[in-house]
Amino acid sequence: MKTHIITYGCQMNEYDTHLVKSELASLGAEFVDTWQEADFVLVNTCAVRGKPVEKVRSLLGELRKEKDKRDLMVGMMGCLAQLEEGQQIARKFGVDILLGPGALTEIGKALEAKSRFWELSFREELAHHLPPAPQGQLSAFVSIIRGCNHHCTYCIVPTTRGPEVSRHPDLILREIEQLKAAGVVEVTLLGQNVNSYGNDQPGFPKFAELLRMVGQIGIPRIKFTTSHPVNFTDEVIRAMAETPQVCEYIHLPVQSGSNRVLRRMGREYRREWYLDRIRAIREAMPEVVLSTDIIVGFPGETEEDFQETLSLYDQVGYDSAYMFIYSPRPGTPSYKHFQDLPREVKVERLQRLIEKQKQWSYKQNQRWVGRTLEVLVRGAAKDDSYAEGHSRGNHPVLVLASQAPRPGLYQVVVKQATPHMLLGEVVGAEEPATIPLMMA
Ligand code: SAH
Ligand code: SF4
Ligand code: F3S
Repeated sequence: MKTHIITYGCQMNEYDTHLVKSELASLGAEFVDTWQEADFVLVNTCAVRGKPVEKVRSLLGELRKEKDKRDLMVGMMGCLAQLEEGQQIARKFGVDILLGPGALTEIGKALEAKSRFWELSFREELAHHLPPAPQGQLSAFVSIIRGCNHHCTYCIVPTTRGPEVSRHPDLILREIEQLKAAGVVEVTLLGQNVNSYGNDQPGFPKFAELLRMVGQIGIPRIKFTTSHPVNFTDEVIRAMAETPQVCEYIHLPVQSGSNRVLRRMGREYRREWYLDRIRAIREAMPEVVLSTDIIVGFPGETEEDFQETLSLYDQVGYDSAYMFIYSPRPGTPSYKHFQDLPREVKVERLQRLIEKQKQWSYKQNQRWVGRTLEVLVRGAAKDDSYAEGHSRGNHPVLVLASQAPRPGLYQVVVKQATPHMLLGEVVGAEEPATIPLMMA
């Protein structure tokens, strides 16, 4: 069967796509580059904000029209498939197969049964699943924990992905060893809240311990995402600082700088706690690169509240940030209980925040000019006279393609910085790329 998978949403979804792809491959599926060539199109969906839902809706609309013309099977997986909202969309557009985020290993059965609706929720066995290493990649994701036990009032993820289930550490370590053998030099440990790792399973190591164990494997770069500030303990900070493979990069979503808003968001910490975590992090790792997620225009957010977010931004001085306009999600507490702010107010605040972020990114990126960074070059940039990659601190970095002819790790002297990237010169390949040239 000619198969094409389209993925929306976060890194968790990218990982799940890889997992399902390997299941399908073992069933004999052949993968094609576009849905136009495919007999089976599988859409991996996201429901975190209105926008990704709209994208799925319009794609499924197009696929519906295609189905009228020829024999085509359409499947929906991922977060939206778990929600009533998604199931309605699936019915409307004649989707043949539906697979919740916990039911991925059931893809074979779903295809065999050609059931119109295959609704399954979270399966423990997913935690025991070991997907094969992707070939020809330098960077890879490894899921360590699924689901989320927090209850942020704006967020649909606990509904779509259920409570936390940690994977067995032996499986995680085996998967990373396989990745190392396949030539991967950077792994990102994934979970909605990686710092909760092990809390749900007595006898499992905690996240700090797991970091040290992963460090032992000897992959040169270890990253992880996402962290919740409440669980970002001193032990985690110590494990990071003492494990050289762990990159000096932390994504620590703050969401708002106002205690009033944080309380209404159900974030379980105050601004002062968050700033104390940043202090402890910087004390242990002075060169750390920090990024965050911020929601602007949460219901009831006043201009004063927003000013608190701007001032927190100045206190931390983030290297980068993902900034979102609050998007009301049916099924979340804030949707039910709070009134959405006018769109103009939200958009105007977002613009001011973006402006602030640009200034800080520029300032923070300048601090690398003249210094040498290790860059993981992936391949040609859009302008193919350049190759693109990223640093241990996750900065996008460009170098002349002639200086980095193959993907791999390079030492790069930074020559220039913009708010969005660094431009550098290769001082000598640290190690020859042992992987095939093709990048997945
Ligand atoms: N587990 C992670 C990521 C969750 S989703 C965490 O807790 O940080 C990624 C980001 O999407 C969130 O950090 C939040 O900033 C944003 N987000 C989630 N729900 C949203 C909503 N309803 N509207 C706007 N942004 C939202
Ligand atoms: Fe959503 Fe909050 Fe859980 Fe993150 S911690 S996934 S924002 S409920
Ligand atoms: Fe979206 Fe689900 Fe990720 S809602 S952001 S794909 S966890």
